[in-house]
Amino acid sequence: MSSLYERLGKTEGITAIASDTVDLHLQNPRIAPRYVNSDVVAVKHAVTTFFVTNSGGPKVYEGKDMLAAHRGMNIDAAEFGAALDDAMEALDKNGIGQREKEEVLFFLYGLKNEVVHI
Ligand code: HEM
Repeated sequence: MSSLYERLGKTEGITAIASDTVDLHLQNPRIAPRYVNSDVVAVKHAVTTFFVTNSGGPKVYEGKDMLAAHRGMNIDAAEFGAALDDAMEALDKNGIGQREKEEVLFFLYGLKNEVVHI
């Protein structure tokens, strides 16, 4: 089977999905306060390249690892769940199928211990 990267529409598709995910975060009352001081373009770039690299695409991610990126934030489980909801909604918006959504959800959920209460 082709890589998740290919099935998400390669860099072009993942750029759209990541952009929509960040836009949903900015409208999500559980998450938006975390991003008040953020550069939205930089956050979208980081999320796009993180996902390109981690879905089997080119090794373009140059950001921090997940522990370092979230250290000191003390993100809770409800925030983490809300972020996953936004990611699933962005996948729907971009016409991504059930199988790929399951793979993304499984991957993201696996990062919980590197993001929550760090
Ligand atoms: C599996 C879930 C998550 C993934 C894959 C993820 C991914 C990332 C990535 C790639 C970065 C950029 C790191 C860098 O710039 O070097 C980042 C930063 C950040 N994340 Fe997450 N994140 C997740 C969950 C969350 C949650 C649940 C919150 C809060 C509700 C959150 C809040 C932030 C904030 C505030 C930043 C810093 C933004 C900035 O630099 O201005 N993240 N995350």
